[in-house]
Amino acid sequence: MKILITGGAGFIGSHVVRLFVMKYPNYQIINLDALTYAGNLENLRDVEGAPNYRFVKGDIADQAFIDELFAREEPDAVIHLAAESHVDRSITDPMAFVKTNVIGTVNLLNAARNLWQPGGYAGHTFYHVSTDEVYGSLDFGPEMFTEDTAYDPRSPYSASKASSDHFVRAWHHTYGLPIKLSNCSNNYGPNHFPEKLIPLAIHRLRTGQPVPVYGKGENVRDWLFVKDHATAIDAVFHNGKLGDTYNIGGVNEWQNLKLIELLCDVVDEKTGQGPGTSRRLIKFVTDRAGHDMRYAIDSSKIMNELGWKPSVTFEQGLAQTVDWYLANEEWLNSVTSGAYQDYNTKQYAGR
Ligand code: NAD
Ligand code: DAU
Repeated sequence: MKILITGGAGFIGSHVVRLFVMKYPNYQIINLDALTYAGNLENLRDVEGAPNYRFVKGDIADQAFIDELFAREEPDAVIHLAAESHVDRSITDPMAFVKTNVIGTVNLLNAARNLWQPGGYAGHTFYHVSTDEVYGSLDFGPEMFTEDTAYDPRSPYSASKASSDHFVRAWHHTYGLPIKLSNCSNNYGPNHFPEKLIPLAIHRLRTGQPVPVYGKGENVRDWLFVKDHATAIDAVFHNGKLGDTYNIGGVNEWQNLKLIELLCDVVDEKTGQGPGTSRRLIKFVTDRAGHDMRYAIDSSKIMNELGWKPSVTFEQGLAQTVDWYLANEEWLNSVTSGAYQDYNTKQYAGR
């Protein structure tokens, strides 16, 4: 089987690529990525020489390029993770999100349909990786997002992801395209670009800079270790029902301030600083516009139907994450300095 994985140089994509390359030596894995600021081939150094792995640089929003790629490579399946993924960036530049998340997704749907429909769809899968943010915002009650929760996206990012989810389902209902979807909660772990809360906080604590907490820090997110998201994607890809959606979460809700305080304590412990040192760097700043209050995912469908469950507790996952960032100072320095972007621009000039 030849699988095209989009966005494989990003945070979650790199963990999915590694899992598939190592676990399925008989599959050919093509990683298609535009290497935006969030894409980093350093994330995949350990698998880049594997005989069943190839990287292709390209933009999913470029229809001619995508059509040509599908005609040339004839992938049997697609796992689509490429996206603009940061809510704050979507507030300042929404059009980039429309281009990649909406137009890019429709380009992939069209290319898959054109390639697969003539010979019949049997044996093909278009798997779209999405987010819990499409469901909107919960209050502090016991309610959780299920696969049946009505969509209510409220940021340009979540609106673009909701739109892409609708297009994926429309291609299934209208053209019969064999699709699967999953909607996941907040991921954390190694290789996370340090503009998102957890890696940003670790980077700033490590360098003695203030850690910005939006508003009062009351907002709640449900955190899942990225390697557990990758195993969930593996389970849905291989065993999920065609046409179905699976919610994936960590059953692990944290208020932002409590999470940052915990992270400060873990960093103090690991760096041998006195207790309370890092907490002094917490700084309350202006809230995010339209900041969703709470996300919480009900993962019972994937757990009951596919037998998936998270493999680590939050304490274990957070400890592994802090260890990884402390041991990979060079990675953090290069992504925060833009050095790898300069490298990518030179390395892939004209490609
Ligand atoms: P990321 O921003 O770390 O990585 C995105 C990758 O997509 C990068 O490698 C980037 O270069 C690539 N990309 C961006 N635009 C592209 C384009 N036009 N053409 C080709 N490649 C392009 O994102 P992530 O956090 O790894 O998220 C991956 C997917 O999972 C996204 O679809 C996101 O919506 C979804 N998701 C993320 C989370 C999370 O907590 N990070 C949670 C649930 C779902
Ligand atoms: O829920 C899944 C989503 O999780 C994914 O679809 C997105 O791609 C991913 O970026 C993430 O979105 P969030 O907006 O929840 O993640 P972020 O790390 O940006 O913020 C987490 C929470 O922390 C949120 O309530 C905003 C807050 N925050 C964030 C930053 C960057 C702060 O308080 N300070 C910060 O500096």
